[in-house]
Formats: sequence, structure tokens, C-alpha cells
Amino acid sequence: MELMRALLVQDYGNSGAMRVARIGRPVPQADEILVRVHAASVNPVDWKLCDGLLKDRLPISMPLIPGGDFSGTVEAAGRETTGFSIGMAVFGMTSTKGYRAGAFAEFVAVKAGHIAAKPACLTHEEAAAVPLAALTAWQAVFDRAELRAGQRILIHAGAGGVGGFAVQFAREAGAIVTATASAANAGYVRGLGAAETIDYRAEPFENLRQDFDAVIDLIGGETQARSYAVLKRGGVLVNAWGAIMQDKADAAGVRGVKVAVEPDAAQLARIAALIDAGKVRVSVAKSFALADGAAALDESRTGHVRGKIVLRVAEER
Ligand SMILES: NC(=O)c1ccc[n+]([C@@H]2O[C@H](COP(=O)([O-])OP(=O)(O)OC[C@H]3O[C@@H](n4cnc5c(N)ncnc54)[C@H](OP(=O)(O)O)[C@@H]3O)[C@@H](O)[C@H]2O)c1
Repeated sequence: MELMRALLVQDYGNSGAMRVARIGRPVPQADEILVRVHAASVNPVDWKLCDGLLKDRLPISMPLIPGGDFSGTVEAAGRETTGFSIGMAVFGMTSTKGYRAGAFAEFVAVKAGHIAAKPACLTHEEAAAVPLAALTAWQAVFDRAELRAGQRILIHAGAGGVGGFAVQFAREAGAIVTATASAANAGYVRGLGAAETIDYRAEPFENLRQDFDAVIDLIGGETQARSYAVLKRGGVLVNAWGAIMQDKADAAGVRGVKVAVEPDAAQLARIAALIDAGKVRVSVAKSFALADGAAALDESRTGHVRGKIVLRVAEER
């Protein structure tokens, strides 16, 4: 059996103790691609899974290799796959259905429909920062909110991984974007295309306006509860974390819908084209060596990363 290095979490609540181990390489099924991972990104789902916060929704078995997205090269292609050659640079997501993480490792086997050609203008570290966050943003903005040119959208947490892409996609679609961010991130979020920013720490966001067609709620809780009232009647709130507050949606005459990101090669290819055209940029706040995965998860746990955190997987031996 060929071995690879992987970050292993042995138990719920013990991600601080995760260690690099040598384990067997995954073997791709007929409809899968074996990817040599050059870099993977950290998403809040990684530490939420390790901490056991998602036990009910995403049952997993321990030990776990975390990691939901990556950039790398094709090492082997299952016999039913087409369009992938050995050595091709690709980026994508591991599966979310029947949760299978696994990107914090030198190799990952993924369905061919979960990956696309890596944006040519990005390094692997930058490309790894894209798939899960950008697909969440795409599916929230276009599939759930069905945003159109000229509409007004409020994006909570515009400085984060998902929010940063959501701001850029909404701006590209011709919408007028308002985003919440702390004062230190206001300039950054405006640079991504927000026409207005609200320092959520200094003033209630509902003071600014109440005429949004859509709200992308990446925070939940009290932020969501207060967000229904800033929508026009008939507007839509898309929530990525927590549950829809149906009574509040009904009272405001708006819709509340959840987004649960799904891998989608066609959407990834469109996102890659926007990146290569210089219309969407990727912000890597910090990169960590694979062996420092626990520190990378701790950084994400702060809830105040600007852009994305990535793990460098291929550099070490
Ligand atoms: N449902 C799904 O499929 C799905 C997919 C991806 C992510 N998610 C969830 O969506 C959420 C966001 O994910 P992410 O990857 O974007 O997280 P992230 O990158 O860790 O978000 C960090 C950002 O949140 C901002 N922030 C923190 N508290 C805020 C508040 N009260 N109001 C406004 N901004 C605030 C911070 O900005 P400041 O430093 O300026 O405060 C920071 O830039 C997470 O809960 C994640 O689990 C769900």
C-alpha cells in the first residue's frame, strides 16, 4: 500500500491534538479522480466538525482527516471519468453528502463532478482558498437569492471567506452591495465592490436602510433575527448558519431560505473564468504548513479572519 501524510483528528473536541500521520493513500473509484493536493483551505466547518457542533447534521466517523477544499494536480483518473489528464491542475471540493472531508492530506479521491481546471492566474495556495467559500457565495447569491442587476443586497460578514466572494459576485451581477464589517475591514470590503459598509460594532445595521431585496446572513442568531426587518416585502434572506426564523419572515412578508453548499464543477468553472478575467480576486490572509493545522483551525475559530486561511500541503516531506 502506498502511504501519504495526512492530518488526523482522533476525537471530537480534540483538534488541538491533531497530528500528521502516515496512512494509506485513497484509491479512486471508477467515477473519481485522485488529486495530489498542493494546498487546502480552512473553513469554519472544519473546526465545527472537530468540535462536534455538527454531529446531528453531518455524522462522521473518527479518526477524521478534515478539509473540504483543495487545489492540486491529477494523479490518477477513474475509468469512467473524462476530460482529466495526469498532471492537470485542478481545484474543487470534497463531498458534502455523507460527509467526506479529507483535503488535509497529500492525496484525496473526489468525484470528477466536484472539480474543475484551476484558475491559471492563481497559485495553488490561492486556488485552494476558492472552492467551498466561493461556491457557497455563488449558490447563496444566485441560486437562493436569485439576485438581479439593480437590486440591493446586504451581505453580513463581507470580510470573511464566503462574504468576500459574495460581495464580488453581487457587484459583478450589477447589484448594489452593502456589507457589514468591523471598521478595520471597511476599506477592504469596499475594495471588493461594496458601495456601503456598516461597522456592525458601532451602530445597528438596521439604521442605514430597510429597502434590501436580499440579505445574505453568514452570522445567524441575533444578526438574523434583526435582518428580516431590513428587507422589502417580498425580499429574501439566505442563511448559511443556524435555522430560519419563520415567524419573523412571515411578520416581515419575506422569504427565509437556507443554503447548504454543494460541489458543482460547472459553477467552479464559471468562477475560475471570472478570476482569470481579473473580475474576482482571492485574498489569502495567512498560510500554514500542514503540520500546523491545529493553529490554522484556531485562527479560523476567532471568527475574524479577513479572506481565507490555507494549508500548504505539498511543500513538506
Ligand atoms: N451552509 C453552508 O453551506 C456554509 C458554507 C460555508 C460557510 N458556512 C458558514 O458561514 C459562516 C461564514 O463562513 P466564512 O467561511 O465566511 O467564515 P469566516 O471567513 O471565518 O468569517 C470571518 C468574518 O466574519 C466577520 N464577522 C464576524 N462577526 C461578525 C458580525 N457579527 N457581523 C459581521 N461580520 C462579522 C469578520 O469580520 P470582522 O473581523 O470585520 O468582524 C470576519 O472577516 C460560518 O458560520 C460558516 O460555518 C456555511
